[in-house]
Amino acid sequence: MTQRTLLVTSSILGENGQSNALANHFKAKVKARDIALTHRDVVANTLPHLAIEELGAWQTPAEERSAEQQALAAHSDELLAELRAHEVLVLAVPLYNLGIPSQLKAWFDRVLRAGETFRYTENGPQGLIEGKRAIILAARGGQYAGTDLDSQTPHLKAMLGLMGISDVEIVFAEGLNMGDNHRDAALKEAFQAIDQLVATL
Ligand SMILES: Cc1cc2nc3c(=O)[nH]c(=O)nc-3n(C[C@H](O)[C@H](O)[C@H](O)COP(=O)(O)O)c2cc1C
Repeated sequence: MTQRTLLVTSSILGENGQSNALANHFKAKVKARDIALTHRDVVANTLPHLAIEELGAWQTPAEERSAEQQALAAHSDELLAELRAHEVLVLAVPLYNLGIPSQLKAWFDRVLRAGETFRYTENGPQGLIEGKRAIILAARGGQYAGTDLDSQTPHLKAMLGLMGISDVEIVFAEGLNMGDNHRDAALKEAFQAIDQLVATL
């Protein structure tokens, strides 16, 4: 059975974004296989920072929310429904200042919601999202994978794990700002890895 796929892109560089190039390659391959794909660009549709008013809206029963609270709660409700409606989550992730883009963090801040995607227990947090697979397409100017400086990978895995998504595969395109030869070879290798992953969907 093919699996519905949610692709989340987060480059601020638009059509020059290398993670967008990885995402576009992924999209083309998925289209060729007739797999249903939803694309959410969290830069084109930037969410505000999470703030206390929005937390308050979540904590207010739906039927008691003011119009403003309804609008605030809708950010998270819409993104949660979208996440739940797909079996595969693909995150195309640039490395900015050694972390994820703040727009992608704002997305995680809406889907990491206690009582919805995880709950607190005596044994620590328990993920409530079952049976999902995640693929990360990571684009980086330098080379960090496997070193202590790659704090992005554990951060992404921890946030996905908090929701219960532990099946995570990562395609790295690294050294993209280390000269044309290096960039071309890294992208070629990443495209091949994407081809192999799409074949498993
Ligand atoms: C604001 C900004 C910050 C960046 N910070 C880093 C960094 O800390 N380490 C790194 O290796 N590359 C860094 N880069 C380079 C990006 O990782 C590289 O351009 C990559 O292609 C980003 O993905 P994108 O092209 O999809 O936006 C940075 C780029 C930008 C625009």
